[in-house]
Amino acid sequence: MPSAESVTERAAALRAQIARHDRLYYELDAPEIPDAEYDRLFRELQALEAEHPALRTPDSPTQRVGGKPLPAFAPVRHVVPMLSIRTETDTESTGALNFDARVRRELKLDDTQPPVEYAAELKFDGLAINLRYERGVLALAATRGDGETGEDVTQNVRTIHEVPLTLVPQPPAGELSGRPSLFDAPSVPEIPEVLEVRGEVYMRRDRFDAFNLRADAAGERTLVNPRNAAAGSIRQLDPAIAARRPLSFFAYGLGEVQGWNVPATHAGVLDALAAFGMPVCDHRAVCSGADALAAFHARIAEARAGLPFDIDGVVYKVNSLALQQKLGFVTREPRWAVAHKYPAQEALTTVQDIEVQVGRTGKLTPVARLA
Ligand code: IVH
Repeated sequence: MPSAESVTERAAALRAQIARHDRLYYELDAPEIPDAEYDRLFRELQALEAEHPALRTPDSPTQRVGGKPLPAFAPVRHVVPMLSIRTETDTESTGALNFDARVRRELKLDDTQPPVEYAAELKFDGLAINLRYERGVLALAATRGDGETGEDVTQNVRTIHEVPLTLVPQPPAGELSGRPSLFDAPSVPEIPEVLEVRGEVYMRRDRFDAFNLRADAAGERTLVNPRNAAAGSIRQLDPAIAARRPLSFFAYGLGEVQGWNVPATHAGVLDALAAFGMPVCDHRAVCSGADALAAFHARIAEARAGLPFDIDGVVYKVNSLALQQKLGFVTREPRWAVAHKYPAQEALTTVQDIEVQVGRTGKLTPVARLA
């Protein structure tokens, strides 16, 4: 009979090893061990946790496979409401100029005053989620719902490998190199008491295609499009179904925060979230004034087709959180943010042929061949 201490240590070592291999596999696309060896580690940890339920911590990688199906989702009241963004209907570059003009008017800036600084990012096409970390551990994940009350989808969100189950501790502010010096007091890592991270659950196009190819070959239902796939997967009552859907996540903002020195700018917030191990999209920029926003809109229009996921447009946010506060809200929309869309991607073509594919179960699927 192994001692309690050695079982605890073994479980901790397995958790760390599995977390490392998860990162190599899912994030870096560079696995170091064969799948069978990974499965062996995973099953050993599952067996230890089954025997010693106290070892089953919420951050254990075994919690990613999801538990029992739920009868219904529990309601979650958002401490900070989840708002929506106003959409700029003018898809030309003038859309960016209109937004900047509105912000300057609200802030009572005249033409002699310097340009306003903005954070520009992508408008991801998926489902908005609030991730609540308590003392660095993912405690709750909820949908937006009506903005005031969403649904508890924690079980499903835990199955998304890109969503960290624990935040990476940061060196205390001022410790620039992060390297402990002989003269420093032992550094206590900084983890907020409460940190709510808001972002979008989405599905990459290649993962969507691969999922559908496999589903089709197996005679199972295929997903309609990546956006529906993301939303539909998160709202499955059976977490085993969600666990099989290849979902991703990008962080784009904050909800409730306790015990954390919030950076002064939105760009600083995203950098800090990335340092905590949250996935933050690299396609973002700090833009000074309207012309820089329009240039970002044009640059992303060029890059759009080559992105591995669908976007709905770009989003501009006033970078300074103090100015955001000053600008405030109208109804459910902040005055400091806008979504700037692209013209719908439409083209004329002709149907050359219609092929009828026969699935394994005999299901017939008509497929149009376009010019
Ligand atoms: S910020 C107060 N940033 O768009 C602003 N939203 O209408 C709150 N969305 O359902 C949202 N990409 O899920 C923000 N980079 C981004 C976004 C983004 C996609 C979605 C969001 C929400 C909708 C807002």
